[in-house]
Amino acid sequence: MRLANSAHGWGLVHIVLHWATAALIGWAAWLGWTMTDLPRFDPATFVTYNLHKSLGVTILLLAALRLVWRVSRKRPAPPPAMRPIERRLAGVTHASLFALLFLVPVLGWLTTAAADVPVDWFGLVVLPQPIDAAEPWREWLEDAHWLAAMLLLALVALHVAGALKHQLIDGDDVLRRMIVPTRE
Ligand code: HEM
Repeated sequence: MRLANSAHGWGLVHIVLHWATAALIGWAAWLGWTMTDLPRFDPATFVTYNLHKSLGVTILLLAALRLVWRVSRKRPAPPPAMRPIERRLAGVTHASLFALLFLVPVLGWLTTAAADVPVDWFGLVVLPQPIDAAEPWREWLEDAHWLAAMLLLALVALHVAGALKHQLIDGDDVLRRMIVPTRE
């Protein structure tokens, strides 16, 4: 089993980063969706918000790691039967997913800084505030964070539909190679 990618398939590092990101996005999105119904000023609510923020910062770190790993390593070619339009759609979807993996957490971090609540990353490190507290900006940033998150989830749905099409209709190895690390 290879750690690095090769022209034949994805390596273990890439696969772990991909699925860890997917799991963290699911968890952070679930918390983001439900936590706004929690009672305000309750200590448990604060803990839940901080968990959501810590997951977001972790997604940002993994995205940075993944980008470095991706640009500096080989990548497997798309299946030969994929039409040019499908390749282009996959390329645009992947690039947009990458952009949103940075944008959504950054907007969340700016939102909490504007509200003057620092991120205490899993109770281990209090992160610096990237901007000063600014109430008028807070609402705008919160809306932008929410919109970008919705766009990310919509793209994830499109991306999953693409993966299922590869598996169930095209019958190629695109999904399998994102699960089983390449040996050569
Ligand atoms: C939930 C968040 C997800 C994100 C943000 C995400 C993002 C990405 C990105 C950016 C790529 C491009 C390759 C790369 O990693 O550099 C990729 C590849 C891939 N993803 Fe996802 N993904 C997610 C979830 C899923 C799920 C749930 C599935 C399957 C049901 C899936 C299946 C695949 C497959 C099969 C590839 C490989 C494409 C290839 O070999 O060219 N992804 N993903």
